[in-house]
Amino acid sequence: MNSPSASVTAVVAAAGSGERLGAGGPKAFVPLAGRAMVEWSIAALRAAAGVRSIVVACPPGHVHELGGRDLGVVEGGAARSQSVANALEAVGTDLVVVHDAARPLLTPQLVEGVVGTLAADPEADGAIAATPVVDTIKRAADRVVGATVDRASLWAAQTPQAFRVEALRRALAGDPGLVAAATDEAMLVEAAGGRVLIHPAPPGNLKVTTPTDLKLAELLLAERSGH
Ligand code: CTP
Ligand code: MG
Repeated sequence: MNSPSASVTAVVAAAGSGERLGAGGPKAFVPLAGRAMVEWSIAALRAAAGVRSIVVACPPGHVHELGGRDLGVVEGGAARSQSVANALEAVGTDLVVVHDAARPLLTPQLVEGVVGTLAADPEADGAIAATPVVDTIKRAADRVVGATVDRASLWAAQTPQAFRVEALRRALAGDPGLVAAATDEAMLVEAAGGRVLIHPAPPGNLKVTTPTDLKLAELLLAERSGH
């Protein structure tokens, strides 16, 4: 991290139901390479320099499944940004880093990189992990292509996403419809006029959405732990 004294709270969004995975329970608690999926993110956040404590937003009924002196657990909300807003109430640092439990391949280096990018720019309100778009992107209506979009300036946003807590609080207090529909917190900070920086993420910070993603994550994590 650029600023070794920066003290950061990590918020983990883990309260989703995992409909598309279809595992019969919340995605964050699905077993993955020997532990619950969310535990992989918690371990990476614990190992990241500067992360002082972690608050996990859990589905109702799962709040007693996680533990540790550095860990707070809150009940999530109906949408992911509402889960993040609930967790934010327990945050006492100036910087926060938000991460999805659905990205279990998180590394401490990526957390430190994203926080460092934010900390290095006093004008910035946020910094997000993202990768350049590699597919050719089409805009279509009723499955008829209307245009091919120039991908040169397109990035696929991921988590972790680091924010100045005040900027994130203001953004989450905005239009409730926008907050309920947000697919990441950065879009709310952007909508509030905030300055959000891109931190290029290495390949491999994949998101588990479908059973195929889960198999891939299982292979990569098993390889990482030497099995
Ligand atoms: N999330 C959350 N609270 C919600 C909804 C989602 O904390 N009310 C979290 C999920 O736990 C996940 C992240 O936001 O870590 C990204 O969401 P997604 O991948 O969509 O997970 P789910 O909503 O669980 O999956 P699905 O949309 O397939 O039901
Ligand atoms: Mg979802």
